[in-house]
Amino acid sequence: MAFGDSSLPGSEARAKLKEVRNRLTSAQAVTVLTGAGISADSGIPTFRGADGLWKNYRPEELASPEAFSRNPSLVWEWYNWRRELIAAKRPNAAHYALVELERRIDRFWLITQNVDGFHRDAGSRKLSEIHGNIWMVRCTTCGGVRENRQIPIPILPTCPDCQGLLRPHIVWFGESLHPLDLDHSLAALRACEILLIIGTSGVVYPAASFGPIAKEHGAFVVELNLDPTPQSALVDLAIQGHAKDLVPQLLSPPPLSSHFLDSDRDSLLG
Ligand code: OAD
Repeated sequence: MAFGDSSLPGSEARAKLKEVRNRLTSAQAVTVLTGAGISADSGIPTFRGADGLWKNYRPEELASPEAFSRNPSLVWEWYNWRRELIAAKRPNAAHYALVELERRIDRFWLITQNVDGFHRDAGSRKLSEIHGNIWMVRCTTCGGVRENRQIPIPILPTCPDCQGLLRPHIVWFGESLHPLDLDHSLAALRACEILLIIGTSGVVYPAASFGPIAKEHGAFVVELNLDPTPQSALVDLAIQGHAKDLVPQLLSPPPLSSHFLDSDRDSLLG
C-alpha cells in the first residue's frame, strides 16, 4: 500500500473497525442491510448523489407501475441498459466478505435493496432481495415468475405460458415488498445483536426504518458508508470509507504492512 493511500482507513476508523470485529467474534445473531453503495465498488452506479442514476432519470418515469402502463418499451429499454451494465461487472471484496460472515455466524440474515444479484452470485444464501432481482421477470397476466438472462431482452417480452406482457420482477415506487420478505427481514432485525448497514442512503422506506427497528430491539447498529447519511446520527458507530475496503476488515485486520505505514504516518503527523 502506498504511503498516504486514501483507501486505508485512518486511526479513528481503524479503532471503530476493531470494535466491530471484536463484537462480531462473540455475536450469534447478525443482520446486514445493504444498498447501492456496496455495488458501487464493482462499477454499478448508485441512485442518489452526484453521479447517481436519479440525477439523469426520474424514478416515476422509469421505476413505477404507472410508468410501465404508460410506456412499457421505455421501461424495458432502461432495464435492458442496466442488465447489460450489470452483466459486465462482478461482485467485489465486500460481497465476498459477507459470504464469509454468513458462514461464521449462527443466525445470520442479509437484507439487500440491490437488484443486481451480486450477493447471490458471490455465494450468499441467507438473504432477502427485498426490491427483487433484475434477472427475474413476472407475467402481468398470469403472474408467473421466472428467470430470464437474455441481453437484450426482446422488447416487448411476452410470457411463454400465456403470451401476456412480462415486466421486471422488481419492487417499484408505490409498490409493497413481498410479505414474506418483509416478515423475514423484520424477524431478523428484531432478533439480531448487531446490525450492519452498508452503502445505503437510508431514505427509501421501509428499509430506512430497519436501523431504528433493530436499535429499538437492542441491537448494536453500525453504518459503513462513503459519506454521512441521515442515519449516521442514530447509529452506535458510523464508519466512513469504501465498502470494498471496510467490510473485509470486519473479519480480519488489514495486512501488517499497512498498519506500519499508517502508524508511521500517524506518529509523523502527531
Ligand atoms: P442510494 O443511491 O440512495 O445510496 C447509495 C449510498 O451508498 C449513498 O449513501 C452513498 O454515500 C453510498 N456509497 C457510494 N459509494 C460507496 C462505496 N464505494 N462504499 C460505501 N458506500 C458508498 O442507494 P440505496 O440507498 O440503495 O430502489 O437506494 C435505495 C433504493 O432507491 C434502491 O434500492 C432503488 C432506489 O430507487 C428501487 O429501484 C426500487
